[in-house]
Amino acid sequence: VTIYIPGDSGALALGADKVAKAIELEVVARGIDARIVRNGSRGLYWLEPMVEVATDTGRVAYGPVSAKDVPSLFDAGLVDGGQHKLSLGNPEEIPFLAKQTRLTFARCGIIDPVSLDDYEAHGGLTGLRNAVKMAPADIVKQVTDSGLRGRGGAGFPTGIKWKTVLDTAAEQKYIVCNADEGDSATFSDRMIMEGDPFVLIEGMAIAGLATGATKGYVYLRSEYPHAIAVMNKAVRVARSAGVLGKSVLGASQGFDIEIRSGAGAYVCGEETSLLNSLEGKRGVVRAKPPLPAIQGLFGKPTVINNVISLASVPIVMDKGADYYRDFGMGRSRGTIPIQIAGNVRHGGLFEVAFGLSLGEIIDEIGGGTATGRPVKAVQVGGPLGAYFPRALFDTPFDYEEFAKRDGLIGHAGITVFDDSADMLKMARFAMEFCAIESCGKCTPCRIGSTRGVETLDKVAQGIEPEKNLALVSDLCNTMKFGSLCALGGFTPYPVVSALTHFPEDFRPVPVAQA
Ligand code: NAI
Ligand code: SF4
Repeated sequence: VTIYIPGDSGALALGADKVAKAIELEVVARGIDARIVRNGSRGLYWLEPMVEVATDTGRVAYGPVSAKDVPSLFDAGLVDGGQHKLSLGNPEEIPFLAKQTRLTFARCGIIDPVSLDDYEAHGGLTGLRNAVKMAPADIVKQVTDSGLRGRGGAGFPTGIKWKTVLDTAAEQKYIVCNADEGDSATFSDRMIMEGDPFVLIEGMAIAGLATGATKGYVYLRSEYPHAIAVMNKAVRVARSAGVLGKSVLGASQGFDIEIRSGAGAYVCGEETSLLNSLEGKRGVVRAKPPLPAIQGLFGKPTVINNVISLASVPIVMDKGADYYRDFGMGRSRGTIPIQIAGNVRHGGLFEVAFGLSLGEIIDEIGGGTATGRPVKAVQVGGPLGAYFPRALFDTPFDYEEFAKRDGLIGHAGITVFDDSADMLKMARFAMEFCAIESCGKCTPCRIGSTRGVETLDKVAQGIEPEKNLALVSDLCNTMKFGSLCALGGFTPYPVVSALTHFPEDFRPVPVAQA
């Protein structure tokens, strides 16, 4: 029998290692012939650690399991999928999973993450094998036709970015994977690297063949030690199997990958400071142009893509551009792994075609707040994303629809807040975050964020609130249009949206109460 216990960081934080230990002891004590696999997570975090058993009729899940539940689980016949108070039945039938369209995350939580055999048995490497037989320009065309856009947040068409690199002649080109997942409420990059690392490796190898790049780097944040370990192991396995190395699966071109760890600066997720950091320099933003696609790492043409963008390429090369393009709405094609977090009942990863409304995501999928109080606001797109009130919950999850409402979907992380949230404090937090994380290169961000904190403090204290709120708006305008990168440029989103949708939280405190 095969027993699956997630080795994913989220599950580990909830005690998965203790559960695994208890299961190992129980298996030995009972003389059971069992294979224990540390899989990735299915992304239903309120049920983690979620243990699964492969039975003749399919997978059977139990959760959330703690070490003390383990003996009773075996008493109940866990190895045959027996009934227990923690039984969840077939995990694929749990509504949170059943309602998803898993293209990028198809294998996550199902396979042994570092088994290439498992990966191939579940459709892995088909996309790369197809790419090996194609001309670079045809690979680029297929990715362009699929409509895939940058999942890191900016939504720039992936195929067009690759074409710029393909068309720029150079003796050396690079593929850089941005795995510096720094946004609040986001964990899709981490989940895929821990649960299905070969899909990212495959995507990067395809990007290499498509553009003529022979070397790839994964810039992985140091706060993700488990992802770093899994990725390093997977790269070694891929190398020894001939997926990476001097020749990619027998192709005339080679491609290899190195995992590099960041040092914990939010701004190093910005592509040009990431490049500086990779080159061993201070993580300061570079002015664009030149675009990294033309002069990137060590001055060479470089594709910089987010983890999810690259991990979505294998399915495009496997099933074709039309297959992927068929999902979604408007100019947002394919699927998006939405990450639901904060004060929410059912937090986790939900991959679905673009187009679901924010209300469906929060109320139906997420099940409302964990505290049971009414939802007051949700912040979409990380600490630099806008706050959406319930009045905007009909907004479809789509790049352009969010932009129309002065928001962004960013890396698709959603933080839920109940009615106890104070939006003035949240606006102040945005300015404070920017002040702490600013790289200091440009004035609107470096000075503006600090002035923003001070001015919002005055508003909170009831000091000339009207004048100071006008100053905050003016400051936001300067930051939005005068900053060199998105850190300073997007900080106004949370501030202005809080001011616009929750003006009551910015009213001066009446003197009698002050
Ligand atoms: P951007 O709009 O300046 O650039 C998008 C990408 O397209 C860049 O890689 C750029 O080099 C490339 N590009 C533009 N024109 C090109 C061309 N003609 N050929 C080839 N490449 C071209 O946006 P930026 O500053 O890179 O990213 C901002 C976004 O980052 C925000 O929308 C935000 O949501 C997101 N973000 C994500 C975080 C995360 O943890 N994933 C953290 C913070 C921000
Ligand atoms: Fe640096 Fe902020 Fe300017 Fe970006 S906006 S370049 S983080 S100072």
